[in-house]
Amino acid sequence: MPATVKMLNLGCGGRFHPAWTNVDFYSSGGGVIAHDLNLGAPFPDSSFDVVYHSHVLEHFPKANARRFMAECVRVLRPGGILRVVVPDLEQIVRLYVDARERARSGDPLWEQNYEWMMLELFDQTVRETSGGEMGKYLGDETIQNEAFVIERVGHEARKSVLTHVRRMKNNPQRPSLLTKIRRFASISKAFRALREFFIRLLLGSEYRKLEVGRFRALGEVHQWMYDRYSLTRLLEKAGLSEITQRAADESYVANWRTFNLDTNADGSIYKADSLFIEARKPV
Ligand SMILES: C[S@@+](CC[C@H](N)C(=O)[O-])C[C@H]1O[C@@H](n2cnc3c(N)ncnc32)[C@H](O)[C@@H]1O
Repeated sequence: MPATVKMLNLGCGGRFHPAWTNVDFYSSGGGVIAHDLNLGAPFPDSSFDVVYHSHVLEHFPKANARRFMAECVRVLRPGGILRVVVPDLEQIVRLYVDARERARSGDPLWEQNYEWMMLELFDQTVRETSGGEMGKYLGDETIQNEAFVIERVGHEARKSVLTHVRRMKNNPQRPSLLTKIRRFASISKAFRALREFFIRLLLGSEYRKLEVGRFRALGEVHQWMYDRYSLTRLLEKAGLSEITQRAADESYVANWRTFNLDTNADGSIYKADSLFIEARKPV
């Protein structure tokens, strides 16, 4: 490894470290570069020692995922490390079957766990609005199988959904007249609002389809899923070698745990439902 290790976190969302170059559709501050990765990675060839993405690959349609992976390899220097984290389809399917067996035997807690596993299997693929059914489930303060759900999605996901739900309850987002006037006062926003008004007028009841299409193009839904077999094949096809399954806190990357990407400050796993795989670009 060179003295200054250059590391790239693609689709970082709110999970990024200042020692890394961080990219997402939207900049959540902290110098995150706003960029649509469908257009490739905005960096020269061989410019990073490490490329990492977590819970991002599954947001690309299968064909685009191959292109995205080729981009990851292009920007990696020879000998560089790619770390890919995805929801583990194999683990989800095994748990779904297990939950179904236990639910059928009449265990009420496992009936709930079965409901949750159905959400993990389908909700993020089919949803048409942000959060989907999973968001509603997570936001239910009387959730019966909280321990199981937290074991799957982690404390932070549940906490952030609850905070959001409480904020919406206490302050339902109905903009005041003043906010509406302020919004309209910005010329570009006014233009967009006007354009939207005419599109809605033209499309009539078809407008909903446009809304769904827009939502589904914005990176929240899952477009494909991976297990260790298919992800390994994808990495092989992208020309990578030394493909190895990792634990959340294990890596070829030096001082991995200090970045708090796959683990939290207390050492717990950030997203325990994940498959962690690393590979190297051949020299
Ligand atoms: C499930 S979140 C994961 C965020 C973070 N890596 C984590 O593990 O918490 C997926 C992220 O990928 C981003 N994303 C999805 N498609 C993208 C694209 N085409 N270009 C840039 N970012 C994208 C989304 O905006 C979102 O922040």
